[in-house]
Amino acid sequence: MKNLISIENVSKTFGKYKALNNVSLEIEKGEIFALLGPNGAGKTTLISAICGLCRQSSGNITVNSFNTVTHYKETRNQIGLVPQELPLDGFESVYNSCQFSRGLFGLKESQGHIENILKALSLFDKRDEQIFGLSGGMKRRLLIAKALAHEPKILFLDEPTAGVDVSLRRDIWKLIEDQKKKGVTIILTTHYIEEAEQLADRVGIINSGEIILVNNKTALMSEFSKKTTFIRLNKKLNDHSFIKENKRISIIENGMTLKLVGINNTSNELQALVNSLSQRGIGFTEINTVDNSLEDIFLDLVKAQ
Ligand SMILES: Nc1ncnc2c1ncn2[C@@H]1O[C@H](COP(=O)(O)OP(=O)(O)OP(=O)(O)O)[C@@H](O)[C@H]1O
Ligand SMILES: [Mg+2]
Repeated sequence: MKNLISIENVSKTFGKYKALNNVSLEIEKGEIFALLGPNGAGKTTLISAICGLCRQSSGNITVNSFNTVTHYKETRNQIGLVPQELPLDGFESVYNSCQFSRGLFGLKESQGHIENILKALSLFDKRDEQIFGLSGGMKRRLLIAKALAHEPKILFLDEPTAGVDVSLRRDIWKLIEDQKKKGVTIILTTHYIEEAEQLADRVGIINSGEIILVNNKTALMSEFSKKTTFIRLNKKLNDHSFIKENKRISIIENGMTLKLVGINNTSNELQALVNSLSQRGIGFTEINTVDNSLEDIFLDLVKAQ
């Protein structure tokens, strides 16, 4: 597959603050790439730099071989952006607002194209209504419609489903999958593991302005499916030399609980640990296993760096 977007050693500073630190990343043509990371990690800043909404402090970005700084128009024409915030003009009608977005890229009005998008997003009935009369979820869908108005080859979605209900989330996923089938390359940011799991071909994780991991979804999901296990002991663990070597085990609650991160269901690691405890005359009162949250996974990845 050909790389459609190349990001080379890109940094972005705001005053003294480094929001992006030497980021390099390749996006392949036709893929769905999910960018995950905690609040403030630099996801929106990276997207803004690729889309030409802000200029990187150093490094180069090319879109289809065009440089985003020197050939801004060529790169921006190929991109549709669904922004994280809702920058909508409340008095405009839904239909006109989409047609306006299309016009910004110098394209002729196309009633058929805009109507098809509005239908796909269940906004057709609202086409003549003013935007301030729409619900929050409808406004989010309208942002997607506007991003698709000029038939972009690349679609950026910055947290497209933040705060939307389950059924709308599924509609948005379907629309994203349909765009992929049409050959559109898609980059999305999300805080939902299920979203990356459902949609992405590859996943990148960004933290404090640095890309810390890029992998295909299947490989990463097996990491994500690992659980965190808490073993509540029947007496305090004083001699913990036997677990010191294992970074994934920590002792919490004043020696009364062991926390194991990243155990998968098929491993016999848990049994081995319980055996070691029992050899030292320690039993347990409770074993509790919980799914890892995205935050747990970020923390683990950051610690492992
Ligand atoms: N215009 C700006 N001026 C100053 N600092 C900024 C600006 N834009 C972003 N930042 C800072 O850069 C860092 C990265 O912000 P960014 O919006 O890219 O994070 P994010 O990963 O999109 O987070 P979220 O998940 O909350 O949307 C943050 O610390 C933010 O405060
Ligand atoms: Mg953001």
